[in-house]
Amino acid sequence: MTVNVLGISGSLRQGSYNTALLRAAKELAPEGMVIEEFDLAPIPFYNDDVRLQGYPPSVEDLRTKIRQADALLFVTPEYNRSVPGVLKNAIDWASRAPDQPFDDKPVAIMGASMSALGTAFANHHLRQILVYLNAHMLNGPEVLVGGAASKFDAQGRLTDEATRDFVRNHLTGLKRLTLRLKG
Ligand code: FNR
Repeated sequence: MTVNVLGISGSLRQGSYNTALLRAAKELAPEGMVIEEFDLAPIPFYNDDVRLQGYPPSVEDLRTKIRQADALLFVTPEYNRSVPGVLKNAIDWASRAPDQPFDDKPVAIMGASMSALGTAFANHHLRQILVYLNAHMLNGPEVLVGGAASKFDAQGRLTDEATRDFVRNHLTGLKRLTLRLKG
């Protein structure tokens, strides 16, 4: 079977390293895995008054695509040692219903940063949020890309061979976890 993955970058920036890392993941996915990209830009700020009138179409779209996906791949920047508000906001929207779509979902997290520490802190905060939502987290191998400026070329292609191997192994791990959970 094909493992359909919904890939979500936590950066809205045109030249984002994290979106570039997500595009590298699409290219490096193992056979039998397809990664679709979801754009968070149209998601509004969370407002419970708005939710009570019905989910905005962009949020409904996100919830549907999460539910339909066999697995999720988050590619997150680190902002002030945590997850960017854009990403947390989208998760908050998607989670706000009794049938929240993260329940029982296999999830992997990658990230890229300019610093030497990569996105270790953001990765672990995001992991905690998703564990609360009862997702099944891929524990390793982790993909924490530090010094991002030296690992992508001017067109945003991931050129660092060691990092490309980490991404491949990470996605193979996600495929294995997903198939195991499906029985
Ligand atoms: C950052 N950056 C950053 N980097 C990091 O490694 N740890 C951090 O805590 C932070 N904090 C932080 C806060 C804010 C508000 C911004 C805008 C940036 C730098 C960040 O890693 C860098 O801008 C990346 O390039 C952001 O990811 P994208 O947009 O390239 O995907």
